[in-house]
Amino acid sequence: MKKYQELVHAAIKMRKYSYAPYSHFTVGAALLSKDGNIFTGCNIENAAYSPTICAERVAFFKAISEGEKEFEAIAIVGGKENEKPNDYCAPCGVCRQVMNEFCDGNFKIILVKNENDISIYNLLELLPKGFGSHNLSK
Ligand code: THU
Repeated sequence: MKKYQELVHAAIKMRKYSYAPYSHFTVGAALLSKDGNIFTGCNIENAAYSPTICAERVAFFKAISEGEKEFEAIAIVGGKENEKPNDYCAPCGVCRQVMNEFCDGNFKIILVKNENDISIYNLLELLPKGFGSHNLSK
């Protein structure tokens, strides 16, 4: 699908903006809204460590803060800085929880090694039985 190719390309491009002087692991993400808009992110680390934020959450928070609320897919690519990834970079648990807040189980998570090597999951596969707003409305 052409839109997914564009998304994968945007995620790969974002790795160069990553600020990762501590882990030297650079991550890029590109989030596709249901309206067809793309929001990008990279990981941003901090000397105090815990303020570090993942590429995926940067992309989500940029989108939410711009008024987007409905999402279709996210492409994620990560690996050692200045190297091509030799593995898929799956989202951490915190990022899966953020996805769960704004997306349904059918939301697509595209793990990217390179333009020709991707693996697609949906959120329900990566976060089964997640805690969400429905738990609080009972
Ligand atoms: N990281 C991400 O940005 N996304 C992921 O899916 C996994 C981990 C970042 C956080 C930290 O800056 C570095 O990668 C190493 O954990």
